[in-house]
Amino acid sequence: MTLPLRLGIIGGGVMGDVLVRSVTETSLFSPAEVCVLDHNPGKLARLAADTGVRTTADPADLSQAQILLLAVKPDNVADILKRLNQFSLHSDVVLISIVAGVTLERLASFMPDTAAVIRVMTNTPCLVRSGMSVLAPNEKVSEEQLQQSRAIFEAVGETLILPEKYLDAVTGLSGSGPGFFFLIVDAMIEAGVLQGLPRATARQLVLQTLSGSARLMQETNGHPAQLRDMVTSPGGTTIAGIQVMEEYKIRATLLKTVETATRRSRELGQKSEKQA
Ligand SMILES: NC(=O)c1ccc[n+]([C@@H]2O[C@H](COP(=O)([O-])OP(=O)(O)OC[C@H]3O[C@@H](n4cnc5c(N)ncnc54)[C@H](OP(=O)(O)O)[C@@H]3O)[C@@H](O)[C@H]2O)c1
Repeated sequence: MTLPLRLGIIGGGVMGDVLVRSVTETSLFSPAEVCVLDHNPGKLARLAADTGVRTTADPADLSQAQILLLAVKPDNVADILKRLNQFSLHSDVVLISIVAGVTLERLASFMPDTAAVIRVMTNTPCLVRSGMSVLAPNEKVSEEQLQQSRAIFEAVGETLILPEKYLDAVTGLSGSGPGFFFLIVDAMIEAGVLQGLPRATARQLVLQTLSGSARLMQETNGHPAQLRDMVTSPGGTTIAGIQVMEEYKIRATLLKTVETATRRSRELGQKSEKQA
């Protein structure tokens, strides 16, 4: 007997792949309850062999899924959702989209009137199950659907539920944040090399200092200024370095960085609305 299809994943690319692996490896879904849609047979064969999930190139095979998880590039959204909506969908379907910049209103416009829709902003550390995912549900989403959907993203890191109005700021902060941190980390490694450290040593020192500082802050729940005071002895090395950071306006630079990324997210969202 075939199990009912609980989760249909649209797009077996980078994100679809990690989500399938995570939800099956954590036993949130049994492989037989999951089906992945993609038009690339190589990707599908690999996913099926590694995880045991069902795969298909035909949208009709996903039409009865309770949860549809959209993981394609923004340009492919309209086409694939219109094709899916030609079929009779599950009566309690919830559409979850991780597609950047496509609003709840636009997603809902492709679905039956009753459909529940959740927009998610996640980030690349998902790929190593340390992601930060923010879920924004529309008013049709039941508590049960929200908790089921949240569990999918708990399998790849931490989650928060917020109203959609915050998603541009979330995109500018945690969505783009890995890119900002990688730039800072790269510069810190170069700084170590400039002081004569071997590159591999500088890399290890920077990465462990970064993850250790994050952990210290998480575990003590301390304010960053308080934790900074702990390493800033009077007339010492840290305050000498901080003086330079303040002089070169790192604080103002970061405020402006996130403000600009947030504005760009808003602009891209408006552009995608106009294409609807
Ligand atoms: N990558 C990240 O770190 C990241 C982080 C946060 C959010 N996101 C969001 O996640 C979404 C997916 O990103 P991704 O990096 O996983 O993209 P991706 O690697 O391009 O995966 C999308 C997959 O869907 C397939 N596809 C597209 N249209 C299709 C259709 N009509 N029928 C069947 N298969 C179709 C693509 O095949 P082809 O390649 O052959 O077209 C590809 O295999 C994006 O919208 C992005 O904004 C990504």
